[in-house]
Amino acid sequence: MKISILTICPELFDSFAASHVIRRAKELGQLELNIVDIRSYAKGSYRQIDDSPFGGGNGLILRCGPVLDALAAVLQETDANANRTYVAALTPSGVPYSQGTAESLMAVDHLVLICGHYEGMDERIYSHVDGLISIGDYVLTGGELPAMVVADSVARLLPGNLKKGSAEEESFSVLNREDGSQLRLLEYPQYTQPADFRGEKVPEVLLSGNHEAIRAYRQAEALRITKERRPDLLRDSD
Ligand code: ADE
Repeated sequence: MKISILTICPELFDSFAASHVIRRAKELGQLELNIVDIRSYAKGSYRQIDDSPFGGGNGLILRCGPVLDALAAVLQETDANANRTYVAALTPSGVPYSQGTAESLMAVDHLVLICGHYEGMDERIYSHVDGLISIGDYVLTGGELPAMVVADSVARLLPGNLKKGSAEEESFSVLNREDGSQLRLLEYPQYTQPADFRGEKVPEVLLSGNHEAIRAYRQAEALRITKERRPDLLRDSD
């Protein structure tokens, strides 16, 4: 899989590219990370990437030209074997990002993420993308952190990156019910040594060696925690 990220702050991705999950996916030959500087596609001696909005208003808006030229160049470099390309813009007005979206993006051969900045981007850019992604109902300075969130959540799912079973058991994993419907639950609580930390004891069942009892305990805890913290996940289940 290739992930191309279009940004006006490419240097923000230096340590991200060196992070464990990204390095490992690259070493396994599962991931190519391509950071593209939008500014290098800007024309003129000032290489202007933004301008004030028509009709007035605060701040500066990313211009179409540099973003769409960068996008065209990146799409042209798509491997001839890549069957599926998906282009997404990161914006607080996008569709809320979820584990389900991360799982479906894994099937994409070339994922292109466009980071907005300042007060947003020219609306005409959005007609060149397949989707708009928001990572939550808050406004960040730019789309760089959201792009890292998306790239990390996808890269860690790529084959070889996760220990077997850990993707199925972590937060937001799917529980298949007998009636064929599915529930996404938060993760059950976990403990490590010592078994007694200053009087706070690890639940007895986890020390029992009884795998069936442990499985049942964890499932019940995952349900309890989900009901308590995220009842919306139980309501939204199909
Ligand atoms: N850019 C700024 N804030 C954002 C958010 N919450 N999600 C995606 N992109 C953004």
